Amino acid sequence: MLRNKIQAVFYYLGRPAVLIKARCRFYFWRKQGLQKFLWDVNSLYLPFLMKKFGAKMGAGVVINGPLWFDNLPDGSKPLANIEIGEKSFIGTGVFFDLPEKIIIRPQSTISAGVKILTHNDVGDRPLREKYPRKQAPVVLDSGCWIGANAVVLAGVTIGKNAVVAAGAVVTKDVEPGGIVGGVPARPINKKESL
Ligand SMILES: CC(C)(COP(=O)(O)OP(=O)(O)OC[C@H]1O[C@@H](n2cnc3c(N)ncnc32)[C@H](O)[C@@H]1OP(=O)(O)O)[C@@H](O)C(=O)NCCC(=O)NCCS
Repeated sequence: MLRNKIQAVFYYLGRPAVLIKARCRFYFWRKQGLQKFLWDVNSLYLPFLMKKFGAKMGAGVVINGPLWFDNLPDGSKPLANIEIGEKSFIGTGVFFDLPEKIIIRPQSTISAGVKILTHNDVGDRPLREKYPRKQAPVVLDSGCWIGANAVVLAGVTIGKNAVVAAGAVVTKDVEPGGIVGGVPARPINKKESL
């Protein structure tokens, strides 16, 4: 307990300095600099810093960084496409692909290594004809649990209290209370999650 209190004091005292460092990184090295900074920073600071760079963050969000951010939009709020509802948990190494919004509703659990993708784009290459650029938001509804290393593709909505098993690739919406797993993810269990 005492240790937590001492840590909290240092956390609050250190906030302005951390914010100034993050802003300098962003100013001089742009998004790449910010990504590197957020990768190294103590996880305790992540909710605060992410908010300062445009993310919407509910109270009591716990983040076990480091996190990956890719394809950040331009402008002074590069994390504006992230919304994380109160009391949600984000595990270590979660990957946010940010051309579109990623909305994580309250009390969700996003386990380590999950990748949330909001676009498909092969760039200026032959396959573009067959696979034109597509981008669409991802919504993870309240109380859902995304198991470790799962991949959620662009445009998918995971329903309230639904479970995605570890290692799944989710290509379609998951109904509220559903439990899906595998590649591509399909229902794996007849019992409802809640
Ligand atoms: C999804 C999960 C919760 C299912 O748990 P459960 O409801 O107890 O399910 P069961 O273990 O009874 O398995 C039910 C079926 O799903 C299958 N299954 C379980 N996990 C699976 C997975 N990750 N991928 C594919 N199939 C899976 C089982 O083989 C079983 O299939 P069967 O009925 O054909 O034998 C669990 O397997 C899982 O993936 N948990 C995530 C763990 C994690 O990410 N931890 C990180 C810390 S938060």
